[in-house]
Amino acid sequence: MQSLIDAFHRAGQEHVFAFLDRLGPTERARLFAEAAEVDLVELDRLRRTLLGRVAATEIADVVPAPYIPLPEKGGDSEKWIQARAVGEEALRAGRVAAFTVAGGQGTRLGFDGPKGTYPVTPVRHRPLFAVFADKLRAAERRYGRRIAWFILTSHQNHDATEAFFAQHRWFGLQREQVHCLRQGRMPAVDPSGRILLETPGSLALSPDGHGGSLRALERAGAFDRMQAVGADVISYFQVDNPLVRVIDPAFIGWHLLTGSEMSSKMVPKAYPEEKVGLFCRQHGRTCVVEYSDLPLDRQREVDPATGKLRFLAGSIAIHLLSRDFARRVARGEGGMALPFHRAEKKVPTIDSEGRPVQPDRPNGIKFELFVFDALPFASNPLVLETDRAGDFAPVKNAEGADSPETCRDAQLRLFASWLRACGADLPVDASGRPAFPIEVSPLFGDDFAAFAESWRRLESKPSSITPGLCLGADS
Ligand code: UD1
Repeated sequence: MQSLIDAFHRAGQEHVFAFLDRLGPTERARLFAEAAEVDLVELDRLRRTLLGRVAATEIADVVPAPYIPLPEKGGDSEKWIQARAVGEEALRAGRVAAFTVAGGQGTRLGFDGPKGTYPVTPVRHRPLFAVFADKLRAAERRYGRRIAWFILTSHQNHDATEAFFAQHRWFGLQREQVHCLRQGRMPAVDPSGRILLETPGSLALSPDGHGGSLRALERAGAFDRMQAVGADVISYFQVDNPLVRVIDPAFIGWHLLTGSEMSSKMVPKAYPEEKVGLFCRQHGRTCVVEYSDLPLDRQREVDPATGKLRFLAGSIAIHLLSRDFARRVARGEGGMALPFHRAEKKVPTIDSEGRPVQPDRPNGIKFELFVFDALPFASNPLVLETDRAGDFAPVKNAEGADSPETCRDAQLRLFASWLRACGADLPVDASGRPAFPIEVSPLFGDDFAAFAESWRRLESKPSSITPGLCLGADS
């Protein structure tokens, strides 16, 4: 332990152990364990590069990134058909693994527990994790291969996440195919770069951002596991979006056909101020610029040729990464280390006497990695348009935009559109929403084609749709 104390001393962080004499053996052990997690060399580099100057992303020279449109929006339908076939072939060959990032703290939603346990579906109130599991089971049935599922958790929610899966018997998946991996943590620092203590015996640590997911995969040996089962494409999505096509053959096919190392889905922004990252090009490379980094006047610019927003391509945080590319980024090979972003936050801490301090303004800086920062490193990166109604309705906030209510309505609209397209009698309002809750399990249909096929095979189709209809509930 003395060597750890010495290392912190040399790094100018000796205050971390200032209260050591006051701590009991368990508290000491915890403090040493937390201190051992800190990469002092990395922290020193961040202190030199990210502190002391205004955090500004250089965005003056960004231009919108090109994307491949959907067939109904002018895309090449032949190519889309071919891509789907290539993706299906890859799925039948077992080349795809799923990866959910669920390490966020979910503060905006104000839900007590891992976000994946949030009951999200309109009738059965199935939790987010169950929806993803059902989608994986649907894909497994269709392609005849087991799909390994990796879930990024945080120190805070890891045990609760694992217990939830055990309690629900892995939602019908095999226990061995679900892998929860804990993401790394970074210490918060004060403006001079000194590590903040949360209590006399613990550091102010927080998750290292979803970009830390790649390092977590590497640490947990997940890339080797993927390799062992022949999976070389990682289907990455966020825990907050129950509409996501967890396994999307056309997307996978495009990724493979174009030899892309990282591919991302876009939707046209619904309105200029929508809080989504934007696909851009900078210095000849594809990147995502966060909504908070692009000034509103630029977000509102209209392209005179099309009459549409110039920065139209919104990121819905759905990506495919080639396994070996993800591994190289995780290891920082060839200068491909993801950059840290800094955020000023109110960090509960202690004063020089060890008394608790609840700051009323930002007093600390947190460091986070973003997975989309891997895009500029990727060969042949691809941005592909998707249909928002069938792929994106996140639950982020307790109320308003991206809330449980908007997410439920989006699910209802999607299920109603499928039923009506198959000829079912279901009245809807002008927005396409039915007046009462209904639900379609992904095991009945995880997209329109699968739904239509199950509907066709239904022996007794309901003559009219009644409240609470649940299709595929017993599958
Ligand atoms: C994110 C994207 C934004 C995109 C939007 C689409 C960022 C910075 N922004 O915004 O470009 O348009 O989603 O919905 O990502 N997570 C972890 N560990 C962490 C932090 C986050 O696993 O340390 C996970 C969360 O559980 C969540 C996801 O990453 O699944 C997104 O995190 P969040 O901070 O909520 O990003 P948004 O601001 O919603």
